[in-house]
Amino acid sequence: MTISAGYEAYLQLLEKVLINEVYLEQELALKFLVDHHLQTTQNLKPRFFKAKASPDKLKKELALKLHAIEEEFTPEEREAFLEQRQEGKHIDDDVAMAVFAYSMIGKKRMQNIRYCLERIFQNKVEGDVMECGVWKGGAAMYMQGLLKAYQEEDRNLWLADSFEGIPVSSHPSDQSFFGDVSAQTYPNLAINGDRVKNHFKKLDLLGPNVKFLKGWFHETLEKAPISKLALLRLDGDLYDSTFDALNALYPKVSSGGFVIIDDFGLKPCREAVEYYRAQHAIEAKLQIIDSLGAYWQKP
Ligand SMILES: C[S@@+](CC[C@H](N)C(=O)[O-])C[C@H]1O[C@@H](n2cnc3c(N)ncnc32)[C@H](O)[C@@H]1O
Repeated sequence: MTISAGYEAYLQLLEKVLINEVYLEQELALKFLVDHHLQTTQNLKPRFFKAKASPDKLKKELALKLHAIEEEFTPEEREAFLEQRQEGKHIDDDVAMAVFAYSMIGKKRMQNIRYCLERIFQNKVEGDVMECGVWKGGAAMYMQGLLKAYQEEDRNLWLADSFEGIPVSSHPSDQSFFGDVSAQTYPNLAINGDRVKNHFKKLDLLGPNVKFLKGWFHETLEKAPISKLALLRLDGDLYDSTFDALNALYPKVSSGGFVIIDDFGLKPCREAVEYYRAQHAIEAKLQIIDSLGAYWQKP
């Protein structure tokens, strides 16, 4: 199964754009500004500027500093930064700093999406493609890029999300592991559907096959008008979100299709997967992608 050299280059660039590997210096600039702000507001001696510059002078100095921001960091620091992006790690190892990337998942899990979809296309596995837990849309945008490159846009791409953040879970495992992950505490995880739509539009990825499924998984997934899935990707973090999605959708995954669990490395999510697999006697081998993600192929 081959694509043109043009599409190959497109996919490689798209992947880098979605995880913001191309503009790492923006993130360095953000870190610089945050550090500078903290040092100034905490009345510490600013790291880079004289304490009492006029606003105009400060603006100019800041602009110059940001312009040359790459030089503030050594090649080793930049390398380490790129290495972390492999596994979806962001500045200061803090997902709140994932301001510019459209996906927080990193390179290895992006490449896993490509691996699964290419096998699906090659083996003509029937069904749509779905991401449950969309955030800014990046992983789903990559799926759409792949559908486009391989001329498979007759498959629907389903985007299921509350588009208002992670729900409050009453599951003990979620409560003890995550605490409060509601939108009040993590507004950065609540991305509304219009923003996601705009991200798709910006990269010319919004086609008629892209379907938004808004609401809590336990209310929307069961009755969604989906007959078959070739790829089911779960990225809802919680025990509840993972279990609800498997319960509603795994029976719709075609034989030869793939299930990707983005958060398998997190205890509550892993427990939900293990419980569901045991309950349904699923023996297909779980393959580990990186420190978080795992997947299996449905026999
Ligand atoms: C970690 S983010 C997804 C990251 C994304 N896949 C990417 O490419 O970066 C988790 C998303 O799951 C959604 N979510 C989690 N549990 C949910 C549930 N039970 N119902 C609806 N949306 C949920 C949140 O709103 C959030 O957008």
